[in-house]
Amino acid sequence: MRHLLKLQDLTREDILSVLNLADQLKFERNNGIQKDYLKGKKLGLIFQKASTRTRVSFEVGIYELGGYGLFLSSNDLQIGRGEPVQDTARVLSRYLDGIMIRTFAQQEVEDLAKYGSIPVINGLTDYAHPCQVLADLMTIREYKGSFKGLKMAFVGDGNNMANSLIVGAIKTGMSFAIACPKGYEPDAELIKWAKENGDFAITTDVKEAVKDADVVYTDVWASMGQESERKKRAEAFKKYQVNADALSVAKPDVMCLHCLPAHRGEEITEEVFEAHAKEIFDEAENRLHAQKAVMVKLLK
Ligand code: CP
Ligand code: NVA
Repeated sequence: MRHLLKLQDLTREDILSVLNLADQLKFERNNGIQKDYLKGKKLGLIFQKASTRTRVSFEVGIYELGGYGLFLSSNDLQIGRGEPVQDTARVLSRYLDGIMIRTFAQQEVEDLAKYGSIPVINGLTDYAHPCQVLADLMTIREYKGSFKGLKMAFVGDGNNMANSLIVGAIKTGMSFAIACPKGYEPDAELIKWAKENGDFAITTDVKEAVKDADVVYTDVWASMGQESERKKRAEAFKKYQVNADALSVAKPDVMCLHCLPAHRGEEITEEVFEAHAKEIFDEAENRLHAQKAVMVKLLK
């Protein structure tokens, strides 16, 4: 594992190895054991979009590992004024030991890795959110013990979260079903890959996807960068809500996950969100542990 650009680049063994290390780091933190796995290592954190969890968990994570994180807003970097990513990559590689980047185009992340000489971590693009899914998988395994025989259902937009969850679920052996409106499907190549490599279903019917699910996942109807489509999307997605009626056909011990931020009353009801708040905030906490594991794997 040289980078974390998207989950497709990781083998099942890579994923399980990150999750095992994440569990270990969580145990150590909970027991007051602090080890400088990344003593003196410097991680740049480039943000072209807003963030609460990703920014704070990466900054705290690198600090806890004995390293140093530099928050680099694209508003202040020359990249925001058009300096090519190829040049930014080569310059930052001279100063830093690794880069985390949150941006729009997946190609930018791929180019940063291609032209630079240090590990690159995708902190969210329009296409993928691998760090979030590693934390999601960690949380699912904590609650369910293993991935064997589990069904994950995703309700809503076929966005970056859906794309990455498909790969994470199929690679860990879960079955996956998505309910989304026509025109809002996940990436077509990923759908093809999932059908060929696992148990994958796509439907426009929420209950069909959620039936017998062990994990129900949802995300916002309008992602960052899609603010101008909010109205149109609210109309398209109005039936795609995780509510008590939808969950009535899931397994009785179903988990509900949400990457956050959540819009109560849109993709999830207040009632369902609060009933599952424990696992949703465990999931948010696990960003820290999962990303510390990723940083140790890539930067050590
Ligand atoms: N889930 C997630 O990535 O949250 P932030 O946008 O707050 O980083
Ligand atoms: N799909 C959302 C995820 C936020 C963590 C977005 O891209 O805005």
